[in-house]
Amino acid sequence: MSAAASTIQISRGNRRAELPLIEPALGPVMIDTRRLREETGYWAYDPAFGETGACRSAITYVDGDEGVLLYRGYPIDQLVERCDYLDVAWLLLNGDLPSPAQKAKFTADITHHTMVNEQLHAIYRGFRRDAHPMAVMCGVVGALAAFYHDGLDIFDPQDRMIASHRLIAKMPTIAAMAYKYSLGQPFVYPRNDLGYAENFLHMLYAVPCEPYRAPPAMMRALEALLIIQADHEQNASTSAMRLVGSTRANPYAATAAAIAALWGPLHGGANEAVLDTLEAIGTVERIPEMLARAKDKNDPFRLSGFGHRVYKSYDPRAKVLRPLCHEVLAALGREDPLMTLAMELERIALEDDYFVRRKLYPNVDFYSGILFRALGLPPAMFTPVFAVARTVGWVAHWNEMMTDPETRIVRPRQLYVGPAERRVDPIEMRPEQTPLVG
Ligand code: CMC
Repeated sequence: MSAAASTIQISRGNRRAELPLIEPALGPVMIDTRRLREETGYWAYDPAFGETGACRSAITYVDGDEGVLLYRGYPIDQLVERCDYLDVAWLLLNGDLPSPAQKAKFTADITHHTMVNEQLHAIYRGFRRDAHPMAVMCGVVGALAAFYHDGLDIFDPQDRMIASHRLIAKMPTIAAMAYKYSLGQPFVYPRNDLGYAENFLHMLYAVPCEPYRAPPAMMRALEALLIIQADHEQNASTSAMRLVGSTRANPYAATAAAIAALWGPLHGGANEAVLDTLEAIGTVERIPEMLARAKDKNDPFRLSGFGHRVYKSYDPRAKVLRPLCHEVLAALGREDPLMTLAMELERIALEDDYFVRRKLYPNVDFYSGILFRALGLPPAMFTPVFAVARTVGWVAHWNEMMTDPETRIVRPRQLYVGPAERRVDPIEMRPEQTPLVG
């Protein structure tokens, strides 16, 4: 680094370049590599962007070494304790917690956008009843553009906020409809007299033939899950949202792309995979056998719910959810043998040299699966609920990106390893080749 520590020098032969350093509000200083090629002739190689900042953001801060997660500067555990999901949604969208009047207006805005166009119901009927609800969500959310995109000016902050409110408001309706459709039950319309989490439970569990009242413990659990999963800075699905958004595609299409990214078992789909894993293990006695499989490099099996790209000490979200699981199960008067199994698995894995050396701790999905189960949801619905929670994060990042003067279409470079330029032979001269597969 130079004396002033505001640039870093890179040399290639006789060529010397000074790259600026950028000071963040929190976290490590970054090297601004935008002029790297021009100054040095090099490009940077960083597959999966593990060491590369792709944008400036003021929304969420994660310190993976210390296990810190802040939304707009507020620690996640305090937000779970003192706020509801709509407080947190307003915070993520606007930069600080709302005043009572702002909260009341936001609640009214969200509540009055919860219904979906009746025509959208027909789209559900095109799916098989046993379709995975994430497949349904990808399709239906993408289709929202056909209903709500006309006339939307993505450069107008007001229009962007209306689209953001629509997405936050309609996602629980869309996810609950996917669930009802899978059960062969009638869709349940949203109720404007209920709060966000309570209304979501109502749309998931009410049936026309009897009244439904969500148990308070379930409301509290869902509220906490929604807050905890609301944002997580530049994760894969948020990066997908930003990448698609950077092309100036409409926000519904970008959100459908984010949902698709969330679906993967290495990302949001891990909560479903955790339950599958716990059920596959079945008993405490089988833990050593499954741990051995997770450690075997010739076996693709991984212990879902363990490890994180960023957290190298305990995941702060898992820290909040772990006691909540006990609390909610006790309040609902349930015992879940999978909770006992999960705790034993955590204990054994955290003493295992393989997991200790690689800093593989339980992540958010390890305990969220148990909580989703306590809510009475089948595993296939875990990731759709995660998508509902994360929608506010996605749209907050989209809005931030749209106002950032440094935003350009995302277009990474590559390290080309294919053949050099060559001549096309006529077909009769071409020898037999080995195909990629088969
Ligand atoms: N079970 C067994 N081994 C693991 C696991 C695991 N769950 N996670 C990582 N490892 C090993 C991995 O094989 C590698 O070992 P080695 O150095 O000997 O090759 C080492 O730990 C580092 O792993 P990595 O795959 O290079 O780490 P990554 O940062 O690329 O991946 C991860 C992070 C979350 C994808 C990975 O830990 C994983 O697959 N975990 C299981 C899936 C999961 O729980 N995902 C949810 C993440 S949190 C919620 C969210 O993002 O939405």
